[in-house]
Order: sequence, then structure tokens, then C-alpha cells
Amino acid sequence: MLRGVECQEPQTLQLPLRSSRLTLRALTIDDLDEHARLFRDPAVVQFLYEEPLDRAEAAVHLERRLAVDLPDEGGWLNLAVERDGTYVGEVGVSLVSRSHRHCEIGYMFLPEAQGHGFATEAAAVMVDLAVEWMGAHRVTGRLDARNAASAAVLTRLGMRHEGHLRENEFVKGEWTDEAIYAVTEDEWRVVRERLLHSGETPSP
Ligand SMILES: CC(C)(COP(=O)(O)OP(=O)(O)OC[C@H]1O[C@@H](n2cnc3c(N)ncnc32)[C@H](O)[C@@H]1OP(=O)(O)O)[C@@H](O)C(=O)NCCC(=O)NCCS
Repeated sequence: MLRGVECQEPQTLQLPLRSSRLTLRALTIDDLDEHARLFRDPAVVQFLYEEPLDRAEAAVHLERRLAVDLPDEGGWLNLAVERDGTYVGEVGVSLVSRSHRHCEIGYMFLPEAQGHGFATEAAAVMVDLAVEWMGAHRVTGRLDARNAASAAVLTRLGMRHEGHLRENEFVKGEWTDEAIYAVTEDEWRVVRERLLHSGETPSP
């Protein structure tokens, strides 16, 4: 499932990245139709900070995701995910803290591309990128605690449920609980070996 990301010097990341079924490439302005379709879907943004975006808002949103350099602290590297040349969704990795070597991942897929294991497969590439290229000691996933589909992705990646923060954020007019999942670099390398040798997405 996973082809390892070779350890590279910062700023020299060679895109695209590939897994057995997917290609992860830089976003371009030509992705606007699909990016807008993704972010106008109420089901996709239900547990995100965004309200559904109109096309103009999606264009601005996409513009901010075009950078492909190593993210600065607080910044994100976002990539388009393709299956057989067709856009199916997006994944991202953020550098939360350089001194603590902490990265965070994110992902969102078009409704018709869900239920195929693509999110777990692409997110695994991003965890690998965080650990092997960005030097992360710890990779986390943060989510609305009601987002069961996302929790399942993080669990499949071998992440541990580390916390449930009661009414931690005020999102779209309500207090929401936040869940935190994490994996350390050593733990990831064990999971990664399993992925490389089994060729399958691990089950929770
Ligand atoms: C979160 C999200 C990405 C999860 O997508 P997903 O497709 O359910 O997740 P996976 O890629 O792990 O796919 C798992 C499903 O594919 C199925 N599957 C089918 N073929 C598979 C294969 N070859 N390999 C692995 N799984 C496969 C699994 O059985 C599982 O199905 P189930 O949910 O019925 O048990 C998706 O719901 C989404 O985009 N949500 C909106 C955005 C969002 O909330 N993002 C996260 C913010 S924190």
C-alpha cells in the first residue's frame, strides 16, 4: 500500500508522491472545479471549520493551498490526491512545532471517493512524509469528536486516542468536543513496516 518517502533535504521534496493506488501531487489552479465541489458539500465540511464555500470563496481557499514548500510553523503543505488521473480529494500536513518536532495531518475526500480506503492510504503517505522528511517525532490528528469516519482513519493508521477535550472549540455557533489522536515516530515505523509488508490498510 505504502511506498516509503525517501529521506530528503528540506525544500527538495520531489512530487508527486505515490502509494499503491494513489498519486499525491501539488494542487494547481486547474483543480478549482473539484476543490469547489469538495468544499461546497455540506457533508464534507460538516465537521470542519469551514461553512460550505461558494465558487469565489473556494478560489481564494485554493489559492492559499498552492504552496509546495516545507511548511513554516503553523503552515500547511496541501496536496491533491488522484486515483487513475482523477482528483478524489486532498490531504495536508502541518508543522505544529519545529522545536518539539510535532506535525499534524488532515484529509478530505469527495463523497464518491469515500469507502475505498483512499483516505487512510493517502494519510499514511502524509504521516510518512512528516516522520521521514519533516523529521516529526510525533504526528497528530485533531478532529471534532463526532467525526467517526475520521477517527477510524486515524485508528487504522495506528494512532492512539489520547484525549477528548470537552467543549474545546466554538465552531459554527456551538461548543464542540475535540478528539486528539497521535503516533510517535518509533510507533509509526512499526506500523509502516506492517503496511509495507502486508500491502493492506490496517484494521482498527
Ligand atoms: C474522514 C474521511 C476522509 C474518511 O473517508 P473514508 O473513505 O471513510 O476512509 P478510508 O479511506 O479509511 O476508507 C475506509 C472504508 O473503505 C472501505 N474499503 C473499501 N475498500 C478498501 C480497501 N481496498 N482498503 C481499505 N479500505 C477499503 C473500508 O472497509 C471502510 O469502510 P467502512 O467505513 O464502511 O468501514 C471522509 O469521511 C471525509 O472526507 N469526510 C469529510 C472531511 C473530514 O471530515 N475530514 C477529516 C477532518 S478531521
